[in-house]
Amino acid sequence: MYFRFIALLAASLFADNALAANGEELAINSNCMTCHALEQKALGPSLKEIAAKYRNDKSAQTALERKVRNGGAGTWGKMPMPATPKSISDSDIKSIVQWILSLK
Ligand code: HEC
Repeated sequence: MYFRFIALLAASLFADNALAANGEELAINSNCMTCHALEQKALGPSLKEIAAKYRNDKSAQTALERKVRNGGAGTWGKMPMPATPKSISDSDIKSIVQWILSLK
């Protein structure tokens, strides 16, 4: 019983870390970091600013997945974000957006 609990706990901790590492890696491999940085504004807003802006917005996950897929402008300034190439899957975009929104 006790061991099972520890195993479950370890598995869930590992899953969280794997998700974070995965999101970050995907963001790097998907060229997001050419325009975005964690802490500082670059061509696009910093990822931590994005997370803070949408902290209490329950529709943010879906809305941002769509925005990353299709591109767009006007939320942070005039500079547009281009659409994300089809070579990057919807599920990769989902994982990256989950990672961004988890940043503190
Ligand atoms: C060519 C530069 C560029 C690239 C590459 C880029 N972005 Fe952006 N991104 C921007 C700009 C500029 C904005 C601000 C758009 C606006 O003001 O509406 C933005 C905004 C965002 C936002 C916030 C959108 C909103 O409506 O608040 C998210 C989330 C985001 N980017 C994620 C990503 C992800 C994930 C990738 C990689 C798949 C990516 N970006 C690649 C330039 C870029």
